[in-house]
Amino acid sequence: MASLPKPSVAPKTQVSVVLGSQWGDEGKGKLTDILAADVDICARCAGGNNAGHTIVANIGPDNVKTKFDFHLLPSGLVNPRCIGFLGSGVVVHVPSLFSELDTLEKKGLKCDGRLFVSDRAHLVFDFHQVVDGLKEVELGGSSIGTTKKGIGPAYSSKASRSGLRVHHLYDFELFANKFRKLVEGRFKRYGNFEYDTEGEIARYRAFAERLRPLIVDGVTFIHSALASNRRILVEGANALMLDLDYGTYPFVTSSSTGIGGVCTGLGIPPLAIGTVVGVMKAYTSRVGAGPFPTELFDETCVHLQEVGAEYGTTTGRRRRCGWLDLVMMRYSCLINGYTCMNLTKLDVLDGIKEIKVATGYRYQGKELTSFPADLSVLAKVEVEYKTFPGWEGPISEVTEYSQLPDTCRAYVEYLEDFMGIPITWVGVGPGRLSMLRR
Ligand code: IMP
Repeated sequence: MASLPKPSVAPKTQVSVVLGSQWGDEGKGKLTDILAADVDICARCAGGNNAGHTIVANIGPDNVKTKFDFHLLPSGLVNPRCIGFLGSGVVVHVPSLFSELDTLEKKGLKCDGRLFVSDRAHLVFDFHQVVDGLKEVELGGSSIGTTKKGIGPAYSSKASRSGLRVHHLYDFELFANKFRKLVEGRFKRYGNFEYDTEGEIARYRAFAERLRPLIVDGVTFIHSALASNRRILVEGANALMLDLDYGTYPFVTSSSTGIGGVCTGLGIPPLAIGTVVGVMKAYTSRVGAGPFPTELFDETCVHLQEVGAEYGTTTGRRRRCGWLDLVMMRYSCLINGYTCMNLTKLDVLDGIKEIKVATGYRYQGKELTSFPADLSVLAKVEVEYKTFPGWEGPISEVTEYSQLPDTCRAYVEYLEDFMGIPITWVGVGPGRLSMLRR
């Protein structure tokens, strides 16, 4: 086929991936922002507007410090030379896409001609969001605690082969018929919830026109970029422990949030990927329900929540917090094959007298040799901890790794040894400059 680019062997540095290694909210945004300064394309491969990245950047000729919240759009758009791409594995809620785009533009970030969407990406509709809420109500006490953005229901439509993709918008009569059938199916399942089907179809007729210039054949787009030596940063959404297969199922999101999702979500082969950075917070947090072996309920939890500002950017919910779990991290490292790590929010541990990390799980008196698939086991594991002396701090003004207190470096180096992966980046504060490169 003459129109498709020939497969190319990407140089090791051409495609970099940033992935959350825990339960999300590791602070991927800051590293993505730093790395996006040097790339041509920043791509999302999975998830939808359930993700949340806040980036503070100086923009415009007057370098005005501006805060940007990204949920669906790739946060690399903050770099005015970077192109944003939503790959085939992403689920797109078109009204949210435009409202996010309009907010960026209002804040002075010109995005015209800088955002492209794969024609194979699936659409999330408002009825998916309604169904997300209804499903949660149905689950009652065992609800997942979803973001209610319709992500699970949209991926369900995709998996059941009744979903609508971006390209369907361009044969509008066919789109409208399929859409009516899809909504009918949901009415049958959940009863006649309030929903203006025809009004929604009319809105999508207008959206389709606005979206048209952004649509590309996702495979041609990404492979042409590879063939012309464009540097690509893949921005992971959510995190490995929320992965549909390898996370703490069913308390997960509905997409492949690990390295596998990068290949399927962008249509690129594994060998195209050079660097895989795992982002790991110096402690653990989790939003929503599900077992969390190192969870804390004492004043240290309050310290982590308050000092770490552990409130969801997408939902505003207070996050559950606990010690860093190296059993989980080893599992995460095996699956994603990180080539290096970014340890984040180390400064949040300043002032804690004794810092613990989980190094083993025991179940019914026996050491577990793997991370359990069965949540009833995970909920009952006894956690073995290693305790470290803390440091006073503050460490957020430190600019060189060697200037960190000895006890702080001992903590970092223990984590590195345990995982067998270099910690190349250490985040010591919220600012863009508070990132130590080793
Ligand atoms: P959903 O992705 O809205 O279906 O939510 C499924 C689970 O994933 C819930 O526990 C959410 O709180 C969690 N979740 C989804 N996205 C994120 C994220 O970006 N950070 C943290 N948790 C998330």
